[in-house]
Amino acid sequence: MFENFPLFPESASTLSGQVDALYAFLIAISVFFSLLIAGLIVYFAVKYRRGAKVDRSYSDHGSMALELTWTIIPLIIALGIFVWGAVIYFEQRRPPTMATDIYVVGKQWMWKIQHSSGRREINEMHIPVGTPIRLTMGSEDVIHSFFIPAFRVKYDVVPGYSRTMWFQATRTGTYHLFCAEYCGTRHAGMGGWITVMEPGEYQRWLSGSSGLSVVASGEKLFQELGCVTCHKQDASGRGPSLYGVYGTKVKLQSGDTVVADDNYIRESILNPQAKIVSGHQAIMPTYQGLISEEGLLQIIAYIKTLHAPNANTGTVPVQSTSLDTGKSHEVTTKQP
Ligand code: CUA
Repeated sequence: MFENFPLFPESASTLSGQVDALYAFLIAISVFFSLLIAGLIVYFAVKYRRGAKVDRSYSDHGSMALELTWTIIPLIIALGIFVWGAVIYFEQRRPPTMATDIYVVGKQWMWKIQHSSGRREINEMHIPVGTPIRLTMGSEDVIHSFFIPAFRVKYDVVPGYSRTMWFQATRTGTYHLFCAEYCGTRHAGMGGWITVMEPGEYQRWLSGSSGLSVVASGEKLFQELGCVTCHKQDASGRGPSLYGVYGTKVKLQSGDTVVADDNYIRESILNPQAKIVSGHQAIMPTYQGLISEEGLLQIIAYIKTLHAPNANTGTVPVQSTSLDTGKSHEVTTKQP
């Protein structure tokens, strides 16, 4: 729509056309009413200028029809803008279920990227075209903001929280990546490039690395940090079992319930005393300072893959991340 209009950045995601259309509508509405009001000001200034022979008598006759018109039409326009914006917002905030996961950590002053396969990069992100990409993001220090103008997506990365955003590129090419939140001296340099490739080319690019996948790194940390000694698959450990816990409602000692999402798991690792699971003791030490932001994202990614044992078959479905595709798919393995 705005390809040859340099006021707008390139348009390269499934969302950018929608955002541009709303933006164009807002501009059109503003221009229309600005011209209307300015035009009337000039017209009346000329018509009723000093010395002009016009009727200046005051007559108090209200018009219900006129008042209703200029109340109801703006109301419809304003509500229309609200609904339109909300529809785009909800689409932007809800990643499709089958999305390729990429992990992002912001720190002063760089973006550290890790693909599910384990491949890492800094201030650069390679992605396949036409594929939904879900970013799981964290910050090591202060608030940063991950901003890709060509995709019309921007989301703050806040220390202490896991945040997700998603997009789907529609065209290959390279696009600017910015940090859009002032974060210190070299904030302006905290940017880079998004490279959108054909899926086959992306697979070749991904396979050019060795090392552990994100989930495997999380599993390794889970063992190295000793989590596994208390959080067993069954209820025999001193801590609650983490199998099948992700996304469920957890009953707390306080009587409250909490949904076991990324941020609940994160809090339970860094500040275990905050929410004690019903029926358990407050014996877990904090892992603050013992685990990096990247490690947290990895360990949470691993915990997400722990599904509840199937009561009928005794098998545990395991979410496995295949090294070559970076996409997750369900496989079922026999538990010993
Ligand atoms: Cu990071 Cu500005």
